[in-house]
Amino acid sequence: KPKLSGKDFLTLSQLSKAEILGLLDEAVALKKQTNEGTRKPHLKGKVLGMIFEKSSTRTRVSFEVGMLQLGGEAIFLSSNDSQIGRGESIFDTANVLSRYVDGLMIRTFSHDIVESYAQHATVPVINGLTDTHHPTQVLADLLTIYEHKGKLSGLKLAFFGDGNNNMCHSLIEGAVKVGMDIAISCPAGYEPNQEILQQMKQAAEQNRTNVEYSEDPFDVVTNADIVVTDVWSSMGQEAENDQRNKAFTPYQVNENLCKNAKSDFIFLHCLPAHRGEEVTADIIDGSHSVVFDEAENRLHAQKALLKLLLEDGGIKHG
Ligand code: CP
Ligand code: NVA
Repeated sequence: KPKLSGKDFLTLSQLSKAEILGLLDEAVALKKQTNEGTRKPHLKGKVLGMIFEKSSTRTRVSFEVGMLQLGGEAIFLSSNDSQIGRGESIFDTANVLSRYVDGLMIRTFSHDIVESYAQHATVPVINGLTDTHHPTQVLADLLTIYEHKGKLSGLKLAFFGDGNNNMCHSLIEGAVKVGMDIAISCPAGYEPNQEILQQMKQAAEQNRTNVEYSEDPFDVVTNADIVVTDVWSSMGQEAENDQRNKAFTPYQVNENLCKNAKSDFIFLHCLPAHRGEEVTADIIDGSHSVVFDEAENRLHAQKALLKLLLEDGGIKHG
């Protein structure tokens, strides 16, 4: 069982393979307890504060329900309705909230913001999505892949669309850590962040996995066990819609592309999705799609994360 009590959870690259696999084992155990009606109040009396500077359906509800199911509670704070929106500093906000709550989850724009909260808060900080990372989603994705494929190591995941976004970066980090090959196909100008890519390529060599990139989606989809895409315009990029729709059209996940994946491939999308843009309805609503299992697994994976971060006091050490 990994020792994560009192740690922050900002990116998957900061965790070891054993810690990620330990989190997934815990998620499987908690999901079983929930399904069998034998849930235990592991976090009785604990409170999670949640700061949202961007919209959310799944993240908000799965964290709230997760805390309730663990015997604790969650408090929703939007930047507009708190002093955060009026410019109160991260230093003051993090210090004050740390005196009330046992953990903080933050969804925001720049990754620096979540790092700054982690630096100043004295309780564990969880990244609920930044412009560059979405690690809680990828924990759920790994759980979903494991449930459908019975393993993680040795599989090939193919990602199509915006390489320079939170989902692609966290998928690269998660895949490399657990020993999965990942291939990314995106148009020129939308490649993954070079620093993350280089760092993960080095880690991939050590873990004997591959991180590949190609502008040709047909190269990338060949022999894929898992096909993944995400919206073409992420939150905050709405003004670039027209330009992005044009650039990403050749990267749409549709039947023609998926003919080249393995015959038993599964399709993942973190949602919300735009049918007819990044994915066609026949794929997302078809027999290969596991998007609702994936959405459900946000709850189970995050309960494991909350339990491991907040149990045993959950006080930050160093
Ligand atoms: N996938 C995901 O994070 O969804 P929300 O934006 O609804 O939280
Ligand atoms: N890349 C998307 C993910 C939404 C959950 C976004 O940032 O909007």
